[in-house]
Amino acid sequence: MNAREHEAQHLLKVYGQLPIEPTGAQGVYLTCESRQILDLYGGHAVAALGYGHPDMLMALNEQAQAVFFQSNAVAMEVRADAADALADFAPDGLNHVFFANSGAEANENALRLACKLTGRSRVAAIKHGFHGRTAAAGAVSWGARDKWYGFPHTPFEVDFIERNALAEVAENISNKTAAVILELVQGLAGGFALNSAFVTAIADACADNGALLIIDEVQTGMGRCGQPFATDLYNIEPDMLTIAKSIAGGFPCAALMVNDVIASAVGPGDLGSTFGGGPLACTLIRTVIDVIERDHLIGNVRVLSDYIAAHCQVGPVDSLQGKGFLLGLKCRRPAVEIRNELLDLNILVGTSTDPYVIRLLPPLITEEQHFARLIECLAEIPDK
Ligand SMILES: Cc1ncc(COP(=O)(O)O)c(C=O)c1O
Repeated sequence: MNAREHEAQHLLKVYGQLPIEPTGAQGVYLTCESRQILDLYGGHAVAALGYGHPDMLMALNEQAQAVFFQSNAVAMEVRADAADALADFAPDGLNHVFFANSGAEANENALRLACKLTGRSRVAAIKHGFHGRTAAAGAVSWGARDKWYGFPHTPFEVDFIERNALAEVAENISNKTAAVILELVQGLAGGFALNSAFVTAIADACADNGALLIIDEVQTGMGRCGQPFATDLYNIEPDMLTIAKSIAGGFPCAALMVNDVIASAVGPGDLGSTFGGGPLACTLIRTVIDVIERDHLIGNVRVLSDYIAAHCQVGPVDSLQGKGFLLGLKCRRPAVEIRNELLDLNILVGTSTDPYVIRLLPPLITEEQHFARLIECLAEIPDK
């Protein structure tokens, strides 16, 4: 019995799974029996520093031996250090952190605060966006209500705005809007970057109407888009920003960052979590940021993203979209076929909700030689 059959005995069958079973991982490679698979998908954008990174292992080991866990009922230097590091790394003005456990939970809390602080009950979101599977995060995820949402009602009314449709901004953001939530580069949608004029119009409409701007950087954040955050690519000042996935390089955790105004309106009991801000997560947040800065990984992302852009139009690839290391390769054949053919050639990439886009979410430590291999393999794959 292989692991997939074994899992099927007691795990709910809710995931489509790939025909590989990693038993080891180092750097940007997964070991699957005798195969070494180049991982350009990073476990859905989580493995920011790849696998087995010595700094992460050391930090984890030291913290595990010191204090494995304590809740937010006690203050800890390791938690304060992680918050300091995030506040320095985050866009200006976002100086306050609430630690959560997943992207959905960070978004859930952001949306809850927005409704509570504005006293309003409408939220605007962008078509094709994804924000997670909890009640509020699912409500603003495009298509969820038809596919998997399940709840009889959403916690607020939702207005979905067409991507880059300037004319729809004023129609959907009013003085009844508590918040607008968006991904600047839509991840699950295949690395679709919203244009600056559209994002600026949304930010202006939020400011004019007293609606809060929530930027979901769960997938785009932590250097992935060639800046510390995708927000740094746009001239905007979000009220709240959410981070997860890469934040601790694979240890489950998330953060909600807020500005001074929101921080001053929040008090004891307004938010809470048992595991959020646990010491193991916090030491890894600090380590991931330190390594990104020490090893100039954001520069690496920029240089190699340009390299991919210059070389990727080979084989079935028609065009490229996205930013940094959140890239969608638009293909002339279905993405699932290309993904499977690349996996046969020992390269792991992802798909997206666009059936013709394969998604790259490589670790930030990926090198030119690895992308050169991808391009070589793509060139081998039939065009039509
Ligand atoms: C942009 C974005 N927001 C939120 C989420 C939800 O994160 P999580 O799965 O950690 O709840 C995801 C997950 O893919 C995401 O891509």
